[in-house]
Amino acid sequence: METSETRIPAPTVAELDATRIASWRRALIDKVAKRASFRTELIDVPESFVRYLLADGVACGEEDASLPKRIAQDAFDAKESAERFGEGCEEDDAGDADATAREAFENFTREIGAAIERLGGEVAPKFAWSAPKDATWVTAGNTMKCRNADEVVLLLKASDSVTHDLTEAYRACADYVVDEKEDEEDRAVREHANTALALREWYDLNPSMEFRCFVKTYNLVAVSQRHVNDFYEFLLREKEEIEEAIAEFFENEISKHYTGRDYVFDVYVTPKTHKVKIMDFNVWGGTTLPLLFDWNELESRGSDQDCVPEDERGWTDNVEFRVIQSQGHIRPGLQLGVPFELYDTSEGGAISEFIAMEEQRRRETNNQ
Ligand SMILES: Nc1ncnc2c1ncn2[C@@H]1O[C@H](COP(=O)(O)OP(=O)(O)OP(=O)(O)O)[C@@H](O)[C@H]1O
Ligand SMILES: [Mg+2]
Repeated sequence: METSETRIPAPTVAELDATRIASWRRALIDKVAKRASFRTELIDVPESFVRYLLADGVACGEEDASLPKRIAQDAFDAKESAERFGEGCEEDDAGDADATAREAFENFTREIGAAIERLGGEVAPKFAWSAPKDATWVTAGNTMKCRNADEVVLLLKASDSVTHDLTEAYRACADYVVDEKEDEEDRAVREHANTALALREWYDLNPSMEFRCFVKTYNLVAVSQRHVNDFYEFLLREKEEIEEAIAEFFENEISKHYTGRDYVFDVYVTPKTHKVKIMDFNVWGGTTLPLLFDWNELESRGSDQDCVPEDERGWTDNVEFRVIQSQGHIRPGLQLGVPFELYDTSEGGAISEFIAMEEQRRRETNNQ
């Protein structure tokens, strides 16, 4: 567990850039990504969309396909819909620049729509580094599944993780130099001039089969269950087989093609066949969550050698694989939405203690 003494390693700007979804996909597309990842389309993000994401408020128009149809016109009128992509531009700046921004935004949403169709009609979006998983409350099914461009736009706009990508992500880097005098929005536009939005074909994933893998000095050193708010009993039985599948995947695919030294990658393992699919790359340290490990122990697991010979890379002989061992070991997480004490029903937890105290109090009252 993280303590105040935990030292979180800081990545470099180059390492962070390598984990942009567009970067790693383009680097691996002819090697591993196509056959071992989800079908994905990348769409260049125009400046007008970056400015729209950073502007205050969410406006949904009458024709907005992300919401159920309304019968009568109401506060959201069609004019607002037509104007929403102009947000972030000066109000009286209605000239050529505005028209170009509007056109770029329209082309962008058209491209999203076309890509969704090519991907079978349902997608999971992802911005530079982050999926809008914190914003599923705006969608009808409480998932990231999007069926049209309006749903994608709404989800991205409502996501703090996406805003973090735009304004904060580089601040975690050791070598990032920020000019505090530069306007935040202009800085985001500059830093995201080449950002691509990724649309991934939707799969109904089984969350128990998602794992986070930690690579230190080119070797796989740790694997953690990805969703640490749940206990999956069967993982205790299947652990070894899953570890073997992940290790083989790392040796044959990832380690040969990903050039980083220390990094983290996420995989999905298909439930029955144990085929491994790459889901994402993340930096070592920074804002990457270490899940069932902490950064101190992860740091201590790899070699500190500066120069590791080629034949000492891609090893998997010293991997620690952690899954939640019992219901009582569930760790607090963002997804709970309530303090952990209100969720933890294990023995010795706050709820059991409260119930024991309450029973004691009742017994004492009855005996009086
Ligand atoms: N193609 C897909 N279909 C359905 N769900 C998906 C798909 N791709 C990803 N997901 C779900 O979205 C979650 C988040 O995806 P991803 O790991 O790309 O986001 P992230 O923002 O990089 O997360 P983190 O901040 O933990 O690194 C995954 O754990 C998975 O449950
Ligand atoms: Mg990630």
